Amino acid sequence: MDKNEILAILNDWNIWRGDQEAGIERGGYLDKLEGFMRSDYVITITGPRRAGKSYLMRQMMRKLREEGIKRENLLFVNFEDPRFTSLDTRVMTQVFEVYREFLFPSERPILFLDEVQEVEGWEKWVRMMHELKKAKIIVSGSNAHLLSRELGTLLTGRHLDLTVFPLSFQEFLSFHQIEINAPLDVAGRETEIKGWLRRYIESGSFPQIALSEQKREILLNYFDDLLTKDLLRRFRIRKPHIMKALIKYYLSNVSNLMTFMAAERFLHTSADTIQKFSGYFEDVYLIYFLNRFSFKVKEQEKSPRKIYAIDTGLCNALGLRFSENIGRLAENIVFLALKRKQAFQPDTELFYWKDLHHREVDFVIKSGLSVSRLIQVCWNIEDEKTKKRELGSLVTAMEELHISHAAIITEEREGEILLNQKRVTLIPLWKWLLEDESC
Ligand SMILES: Nc1ncnc2c1ncn2[C@@H]1O[C@H](COP(=O)(O)OP(=O)(O)O)[C@@H](O)[C@H]1O
Ligand SMILES: [Mg+2]
Repeated sequence: MDKNEILAILNDWNIWRGDQEAGIERGGYLDKLEGFMRSDYVITITGPRRAGKSYLMRQMMRKLREEGIKRENLLFVNFEDPRFTSLDTRVMTQVFEVYREFLFPSERPILFLDEVQEVEGWEKWVRMMHELKKAKIIVSGSNAHLLSRELGTLLTGRHLDLTVFPLSFQEFLSFHQIEINAPLDVAGRETEIKGWLRRYIESGSFPQIALSEQKREILLNYFDDLLTKDLLRRFRIRKPHIMKALIKYYLSNVSNLMTFMAAERFLHTSADTIQKFSGYFEDVYLIYFLNRFSFKVKEQEKSPRKIYAIDTGLCNALGLRFSENIGRLAENIVFLALKRKQAFQPDTELFYWKDLHHREVDFVIKSGLSVSRLIQVCWNIEDEKTKKRELGSLVTAMEELHISHAAIITEEREGEILLNQKRVTLIPLWKWLLEDESC
C-alpha cells in the first residue's frame, strides 16, 4: 500500500491532531485494563461487536494522555477500515514504519490494534514486536477465537485477556446519570430504578442503544451487521436463510431448554449444520448455551442445553413479545450478570440443574471444585402453586448439593424462607443487580 494512503487512515483514527470521542467512562473495565498495562504482557480485549471495545481503548488512550504520555507515542489502528486494500503482516509492518517516520515517537510506543483478527497471521507480528520490545501492544477483536487455534499458541502465556460486555445495570444507570454506589443511594428512588430496569430489559444494554432514541432501528442494524460481516462473510455460509432462521429461533427461545434435534425438526435442516452454526454464534458472542450440572461429564454433554442471548433488546427487536415474555427475559438478564461476574472470576463455572423428576434450578455456580451458589429466577412468585414448585426444586437441589443458603430472584417480592434447615432469600431483580454486579 502507498505511504500516503496509510497515513490518511492513521490520521483519521488517531489523536495526534486532536482528541477523539471516548464516551462515558466505564471505570470497572478501565481499572482492570490499567492494571494489565503495568504488566509485561500483550493485552487482548474481546467481546461482542458494539459492546464498547473501541471506546474502551480510546478511554485508555485518554487516560494515558492525562498521565503525561505524549500523543505521538500512541498509535491506534482500526483494521476494519475499508481503505485497507490488503491485510497481512506486511501491511502491519508498513503501518508501523509510516507511523515512526511521520510521528517520531520519543519513547517505546503503545499500539492499539483494533479488530486485529482481520489481519492474516497477526499473532506472529505481535509476538515479534513484543519480544523485541518494540512496542506495548493491546489488540481487540469481536470473536471469542481471536487467537486462532494454529497461532494462538504463539502468544500462550504471553497475554492477558479482558472480555467487554454491554452495560451492566449499574453502568446503564450511570449512563443515565444515576449513580448507585452505596445502599443509601437507593433510598426513596425504588420506583424510578424499577422503571429503568424495565427499559433495560426491553431495549437491552448496548451502550449506543442506551443513549439513543432510535433503539429499534439501530438494533436491527446491529443484527444485519453481525449477520453479514461476522457470520455469513467470515464463515462463508452458503445457507444464509437457514442461519438467519436459526438465530431468530434462538432469540425467541431464550431461557428455554433446547436440543439440536428440536431445532432440526423446526428448521428442517441437519443437526450437523445446526451444531456448526451454533458454534459460530457462540464465537461471535451472540448466543450462549448453558450446560446441565452433573458430576459426570458424559451426562452433562448428553443433556439439553439452555439458550441465552447477549442482549434482550435484540430479542425484542427481532420479534419476541416483551410483556408476554418478561419472565424469560429477566432470567436472561440474570444470566448476563453472572457471565459478567464470571469474566472477573475465571475459576467459576455456570450450569443449570435438573433432576429426573423435572425439577429445575436456573443457575448453579461452581467455584473451583465445589458448588458455591444456587439461584432461581421466578418473576411472578405470587401464585402459590408456582411458589411451591420453584421453592421445592430449589430445596431439593440444595439438599443434593449440600448448600444451606440460596436465592430466588423475583420482580417485587422480598423476604426470607426457612425450610428443612435451609435458608432461601427472596430478592427483587433490580436490587440483586445492584448488589451483586461486579462492574
Ligand atoms: N463508554 C461509552 N460511552 C458512550 N457511548 C459508547 C461507549 N461505548 C460505546 N459507545 C457507543 O457504542 C458504539 C459502539 O461502541 P464501540 O466501542 O465501537 O464497540 P466495539 O468496538 O466493541 O464494536 C459507539 O459508536 C458509541 O456510540
Ligand atoms: Mg470496535
